[in-house]
Amino acid sequence: MKKVLITTPIYYANAALHVGHAYSTFIADVYARYKRMLGYQVKFSTGTDENSQKIVQKAQEAGIDVMKFLDDMSADHRKLWDDLDITYTDFIRTTEERHKIFVQKILQKTYEHGDIYQGEYEGLYCIGCESFKKESDLIKNEKGELVCPDHLKKPEVIKEKNRFFKLSSYESKLKEFYTNHADFVMPPHRFNEIKAFVDGGLEDFSISRQSNTFGIPLPFDPEQVTYVWYDALLNYVTVCQHQEPNFWSEDTEIIHVMGKDITRFHAIYRPAMLMAADLPLPTREIVTGYFTLDGQKISKSLGNAIDPKELINQYSRDALVFYMLYDISIGSDGDFSMERFAGTYNSILIGGRGNLISRVTKLAEKYGITQGKYDSDRAQSHEINTLLEQLTNIENYLSETSIQIFLLTWYKTVQAANTFMQHEQPREKYKNGNELEGQKDLEFLLWVIKQCAVITAPILVE
Ligand code: MSP
Repeated sequence: MKKVLITTPIYYANAALHVGHAYSTFIADVYARYKRMLGYQVKFSTGTDENSQKIVQKAQEAGIDVMKFLDDMSADHRKLWDDLDITYTDFIRTTEERHKIFVQKILQKTYEHGDIYQGEYEGLYCIGCESFKKESDLIKNEKGELVCPDHLKKPEVIKEKNRFFKLSSYESKLKEFYTNHADFVMPPHRFNEIKAFVDGGLEDFSISRQSNTFGIPLPFDPEQVTYVWYDALLNYVTVCQHQEPNFWSEDTEIIHVMGKDITRFHAIYRPAMLMAADLPLPTREIVTGYFTLDGQKISKSLGNAIDPKELINQYSRDALVFYMLYDISIGSDGDFSMERFAGTYNSILIGGRGNLISRVTKLAEKYGITQGKYDSDRAQSHEINTLLEQLTNIENYLSETSIQIFLLTWYKTVQAANTFMQHEQPREKYKNGNELEGQKDLEFLLWVIKQCAVITAPILVE
């Protein structure tokens, strides 16, 4: 049996999740469900990223014990995924013992391999991103100060002794890997950004922090804790440890879903970290764009961080997943518009699909038809055959991350079936004594409805 590992990013356990986060998870869930339908053995992991300085700060500000804060936050995240019917099979918290043991094992191995050395870091650190910044990464605010473009805060100036990972010595190996794996990062324009970054030259990066006390201690220097990104990037391998079968292996298709802001970590740092530890590399990284909401960046401080649960209560889970995949192509930035969400729901799911199902099933019931039937002559009309044939290539749509095109084709099929119904008028045929033809029309339409339902079952799950 073919195996596939599908993952979401692990979300910072410092705040409630919003609809932008749900986007990555929905995509991973859709992939997991399709792969199961295609007969793969699927492991699907998600979780919370917890060894972060900003979380410690937040808990301390609120006067709450850090572990208690993390337990509550992580439980909230997990509950949201359960409420959204996400079919994950593993949930990792990076404060778990299994993760600490694995990260320390990899650090030790990498150290013995000669890829970690002692150095001194002097520079800027954005706690919001949990990452080191160059001046060229920053923008000027209205006071003329250099700030992080995502968090609009001045980065901290840091000077401390750190351990560094020899990323620079993996530059040519990474380039070779990219050449041999042309669709490692999808869609392709996101891969081009990564390759261009590597072409600009790679610097070693710090993998430990001296001033932090919360995190995984380095096994060979317990005074230092592991840099949160180094540990977080290994979570996907941790979840595969001591498991039968092993999903972190050459014979598994490994697919990660993530936003464009964290692709450098996943597509540059992590392959090098895995190479240094002699571990297999993933197959594909699916990169999503960024959602704005009615034109504005989604953020808590702007007060527009919509809780996905509000949206599903108002419409439905399926409506939300469908809208996100239908309206925005994976990899592009997009605007989440409440107006278009409502429009898609009303015109496509209720108007197009709902109408077809209700008209056909009502007549079928009336005339006692309980089975759909394929009919090659009827399937020729309105290109229904051709459209359905295209949809059977779901595996191609998945690997090309073109689910939007898949759904457009699906909707065309639904529309073609509606046109068929209007054109053929099965009810009139019954009334005019041409019952056999009316019956064949309805049987055929039931068959089309079933095909359309099956092929979208991993998206329209309800
Ligand atoms: N903890 C890190 C990920 C570590 S993975 C080893 C992190 N967490 S996060 O909670 O800040 O973000 C998680 C994911 O949510 C990222 O992929 C990010 O791109 C995505 N999104 C957060 N806001 C988003 C939008 N407004 N739109 C689309 N995706 C967004 O980064």
